[in-house]
Amino acid sequence: MSDDNRLDPAQLDLLRDCTRVRQIELHDELPSTNDHALDLASREATETPCLIVASRQTAGRGRGANQWWSAPGALTWSLLIDWPANRPLGVPTPISLLAGIAICEALDGLSPIPARLKWPNDVYIANRKVSGVLVEVPPRPAGKLVIGVGVNVNNDFNAAPDHLRQTAVALSQVAGRAFPLSMVLRDILGRLLMELDSQPGGSGPLVDRWRQRCVLTGRTVEVSAGSRSTRGKCLGIDVTGALIVRTPDGDRACHSGIVSQIE
Ligand code: BTN
Repeated sequence: MSDDNRLDPAQLDLLRDCTRVRQIELHDELPSTNDHALDLASREATETPCLIVASRQTAGRGRGANQWWSAPGALTWSLLIDWPANRPLGVPTPISLLAGIAICEALDGLSPIPARLKWPNDVYIANRKVSGVLVEVPPRPAGKLVIGVGVNVNNDFNAAPDHLRQTAVALSQVAGRAFPLSMVLRDILGRLLMELDSQPGGSGPLVDRWRQRCVLTGRTVEVSAGSRSTRGKCLGIDVTGALIVRTPDGDRACHSGIVSQIE
């Protein structure tokens, strides 16, 4: 494994010194860091924020029924945080929105091409997906939240399934150089924690920052949520973070679902 792809426990320990993360776990392999974080949430001994990083995931999950393909050089981690029930969670705002923004702003410091967002929080560079976020609420206890992040940093897409080779990209491909995973993790995590600390509840200013990066505005989209699908021109997001789609029957606010871009 190249040095850039090695997640050194000593480097991760530094994160405890320079952020407010209290517990850090580094695993060579896990089925899914989100599953592990959901499990840790119910253990009393777990100190939050708790960061779980895995060098490999064997059953990484994406939103809906999607899987997350992990290969050496990818960054896969989850952050378990306290999120008191009286703070708005909503779907998709504000956590989903702020996670996407934190990733974009971190990647902008490393990529020659700006990162953009596909609702609610897929991160794209040069029209290809570079990162995805899966936010989940543990069934118990109340007041916790898991933010799972996958970033294609140095992974080689030659070995990837066909559909990913057409649609995904690694940061190293765009920048023409590899990046130490621990540095990319520190950048994103630092920004994410800062955003979480500065969100007392409302999502107003976040929404404006999110809108500037939206790849879907003006495009024809289809939003599938269970058996319902909404098709029409995307008008961007409203103040709650919902995706607004103009259909022949009027404007619809979509609060959840998987979006495909038609045109
Ligand atoms: C998506 O694009 O649909 C979300 C992908 C989220 C993938 C990350 S990888 C780390 C964490 N563990 C998981 O099983 N999924 C998230």
